[in-house]
Order: sequence, then C-alpha cells, then structure tokens
Amino acid sequence: MEILTPCIIKYVCATVEFMFRKINSFCKDILLFSRLFYLVYPFRNLFLFLYNFSKLTDWISSKTAKMDRNDFYRPFRKYSDRINGYQYVLEKFSLDHQAIVYLEFGVASGVSFRWWMERAMHPESRFFGFDTFEGLPEDWGMFYKKGDMKHEIMTSDDNRHRFVKGLFQDVFTDFIRENHSELRSSKQKIIHLDADLFSSTLFILSQLYPYLRADDIIMFDEFSVANHEFFAVDVFQKAFYVRLEPISGINNFYQTIFKVASGKA
Ligand SMILES: C[S@@+](CC[C@H](N)C(=O)[O-])C[C@H]1O[C@@H](n2cnc3c(N)ncnc32)[C@H](O)[C@@H]1O
Repeated sequence: MEILTPCIIKYVCATVEFMFRKINSFCKDILLFSRLFYLVYPFRNLFLFLYNFSKLTDWISSKTAKMDRNDFYRPFRKYSDRINGYQYVLEKFSLDHQAIVYLEFGVASGVSFRWWMERAMHPESRFFGFDTFEGLPEDWGMFYKKGDMKHEIMTSDDNRHRFVKGLFQDVFTDFIRENHSELRSSKQKIIHLDADLFSSTLFILSQLYPYLRADDIIMFDEFSVANHEFFAVDVFQKAFYVRLEPISGINNFYQTIFKVASGKA
C-alpha cells in the first residue's frame, strides 16, 4: 500500500493535468470558432494602451530614483527642454571633442540633427540622417496622419553629414551593407530615434542590434508614448535580451536617453 499510494497520486495528478490541457485548448478553439471576441475587437487599441500604460507606470516607478537625472514630476511639459538632455549627454561623455557616429532616424526639418552637428565638432565625427522627407508613413495616434511632418531636406556646408531619403524599411539594409566599417568602428555611437512610430522604432532597433556596444547612447524623443516608442523598446529588450539603462528623462520621460548596458536583460 505504501508503495502504491505515491504512484496513484502521480497518476491522478497527470490525469488532471491532461484533462486541464484538453479543456484549455478546447475552450480556446471554441472561442475562435464562435468569433465571440469580435465583441472586443473595436476596443483592441484601448486594451493595448492599458497594457502598455500600466507597464510604463511600473517602469517609471522603478527607474526614477536610480537615474542620474530626470524632471519627474513636472505639471507641464516644455518641448524645447529636450535640449537639456542632449546637453547633458554631450558634456557627460565629452562628445564635443571625440569622434562620434551620430545616427538620427526621423530628421524632418533637421532641428535636432543640426543641433548635434553644430556641437560635436570633431573633424572625424560622422552624421547620418534618415527620413522619408515625405512625412509619416502611417497614422501616429489620433492626431497625426500619414504624410504629416513632410519637410524639405535641410542644407548644410558641413561635409561630415549625409542624408538617406526613403522609408527606413527600404533603405537601411543597404546603408548597413555599405557602412559596415563605420558602424563597427570604435567611435562612440549616438543613436537618435525620433520616428515616433512603434513600427519604425522597432525596425531600427532590431537592425542596429548587431552593432550595439556597451555605452552606446540611444535617445528617444517620444519615449513615454505607451503604444509606440515605449512599446517598441519593451519588445526590443525582451526579444533581443538587451538591457538599456536610462540616464536622462526630460518632460516626464517624454524624452528619455539610455546607455546600452553591458549585461543582458
Ligand atoms: C518628429 S519627426 C522628426 C523631428 C526631428 N528629429 C526634429 O527634432 O526636428 C518624425 C519623422 O520621422 C519620419 N519617419 C517615421 N517613420 C519613418 C520610416 N519608417 N521611414 C522613414 N522616415 C520615417 C517622418 O517622416 C518624420 O519626418
């Protein structure tokens, strides 16, 4: 009897687990077949927003105290204060006097691109800007439509820069192939993601993944938009086991700057 009891318990547990798995898959298939979840389909973006916003809330709670600097909480954002984050990084890493590779995704009229080019003065620094220059390739939230933010390509006499016009998804693979050595060089990389969209941000992060090194800097211009840049960063860190360490948060983390950490996520 003493020998039989553990065997019976094991058998009962295995049977219960087997039944549970069967019921679980049966219920899911019935739900798919019945199309019942069409009822929640109109609210899918809201559910995604609630999911991401709760994650953002948790992220802010856990990171705020550990960061070098941030202005959380301020009642009103001032967009021009994003410059304070750039200035902080420029000084902290002495980027004005060392050769850097600056990559900006989402250039539009070139405000931030010009700021960096005018301050990172080393003659060996290189500046690459990517944009359709035809505006956003898809709607961004409720207020910005496909085609918004269309701009002429800015001009400059500084021959350290180059713009690549086109959809990131069309042009960036060729850019990587042609500029492999620049991306692999020992220069400090400053990656500025200002493309607003989840799709654009995630695409670029995943393409740059093989070239990321510890201490590279990644700046986001709309980080706290839950369903876009925040979501892209969250998915990227999980899918690639990369850890990004926040070092500056401006405008309640709307503009957030990260350093690539050496350890895995
Ligand atoms: C907010 S604007 C950039 C603003 C600029 N960095 C500044 O500070 O003045 C966003 C830009 O990202 C570009 N963009 C977004 N997704 C893109 C994609 N997949 N390919 C190319 N450009 C994209 C849009 O065309 C738009 O000009």
